[in-house]
Amino acid sequence: AALYGDRRRNSAGCNLMDPVQRASVLSVLDRQSDERIEAACLVAGQAVGAAPQPVVSPVDTRQTAGTIRPARPEDLEAAVTAAAAAQPDWDARGGAARAAVLRAIADRLEDNRDRFLSILAREAGKTLEDGIAEVREAVDFCRYYAGLAEDQFEGNRTLPGPTGERNELSLGGRGVFLCISPWNFPLAIFTGQVAAALAAGNAVLAKPAEQTPLVAHMAVTLMHAAGVPGDVLHLLAGDGAGVGGALVGDPRVAGVAFTGSTVTAQTINRALAARKGAIVPLIAETGGQNAMIVDSTALLEQVSDDVMMSAFGSAGQRCSALRVLFVQDDVADALIDMLKGALAERRAGDPADPATDIGPIIDDAARQRLADHCAWLASEGRLVAQGTLPDETAHGTYLAPHIFTLDRLDQLEGEVFGPVLHIIRYKADDIDDVLAQIGDTGFGLTFGVHTRLESRWRRLFARARVGNTYINRNMIGAVVGVQPFGGEGLSGTGPKAGGPHYLLRFAVERTLTVNT
Ligand code: SER
Repeated sequence: AALYGDRRRNSAGCNLMDPVQRASVLSVLDRQSDERIEAACLVAGQAVGAAPQPVVSPVDTRQTAGTIRPARPEDLEAAVTAAAAAQPDWDARGGAARAAVLRAIADRLEDNRDRFLSILAREAGKTLEDGIAEVREAVDFCRYYAGLAEDQFEGNRTLPGPTGERNELSLGGRGVFLCISPWNFPLAIFTGQVAAALAAGNAVLAKPAEQTPLVAHMAVTLMHAAGVPGDVLHLLAGDGAGVGGALVGDPRVAGVAFTGSTVTAQTINRALAARKGAIVPLIAETGGQNAMIVDSTALLEQVSDDVMMSAFGSAGQRCSALRVLFVQDDVADALIDMLKGALAERRAGDPADPATDIGPIIDDAARQRLADHCAWLASEGRLVAQGTLPDETAHGTYLAPHIFTLDRLDQLEGEVFGPVLHIIRYKADDIDDVLAQIGDTGFGLTFGVHTRLESRWRRLFARARVGNTYINRNMIGAVVGVQPFGGEGLSGTGPKAGGPHYLLRFAVERTLTVNT
């Protein structure tokens, strides 16, 4: 049972409805709203990098959240050299000692929660609710993987064998692990990858998304202060092709964890395969074309709530978010009316304002792609409803939430990564075709079903090729150790972050046989 993290203490959340907690959060945000973070790469504990570049805030693109000094080729070289030299000692410390460091990181993340909320809002456009959830998830990853490190990486496992022979199985780090993380969870996924790689005994090169180096810089600074040696964990900021590409090609990198787009995961996979020398594993968590099926037995008020949260929470910028809602024809009009009403209530605005439901899109290029998609569907006469943007959003990269109808899922070419929901009506007899349409996308990340017929959801679950299925609830916000998260097919290589087997993907296994 310990394998499932039952020694773990839950992270302390924050209830914004409680006046005392709310006032405390808001006072920190207020004090820090003008703070500009001057960040750099961290190599062997030293701040290094090229000349500072501004990090533009999506909340107001006339402002910066701070500056970052991107990695130069000599910084990459120094980091890989130091990491390779430091890894054996870190590995030799054993799982229990590394677990203690991870728990110290978790405590410090909690202590610094409000500073993280402030920078998450300004750099990544995260609402306060999202920021609070993100800090909790980062904390939970550290404590959960600490428990796994103790259980799986401390000492050797003795195996049965013939008399006169001793057999032992041990787990250890692979070496230098490269962690490439996305902007949409710049703290939680960043920390989750790094914590897992460290827990398993690896030295880590952390490459944050280009849009969110400041949160990453705060996180790595805190990890060093909590006891991770500077030689063991390096922060290398910069662009994906340059910095990420050079590190993927380095023969001393023994494993890669990547969360981001399917296309980039495939590029990394090809680059690793083309490398001379050792065969290197890739852990990829990528996108989804996530669908929900709602039949005529479903409780529509609850469906409406769950759809709004799944499609428009985090401005739709979650890989788990609902993109395509299949609704049985008989109840479609009633549900669409409810969704229109609910959409009109959603408020876009400053993410640091507790009244805001929808923050900005991460940057202008992403906003433009979404706007083009919406313009195309609107020109096809498919618009069902559109939210409004208040004046205060004029200088940010905001997109009003949209709802469209489609006839079939294959009208969508790829993942639409923002606050855009597509609805497809189906007839009761066509449910097998609906499942086929979902399967034909090739993605397999999240899947939702709303029905009061247990036989129906059991049948759909048995046939769906999807990593995380949610019945009669929303389909986002997987909780560490509760809903291990990760997809299959175009959605990733399958490991479940926050699950009991995750660390094994970052490890080597060695068998020792001694003739006594
Ligand atoms: N783990 C996140 C979620 O479940 C990823 O988007 O929402």
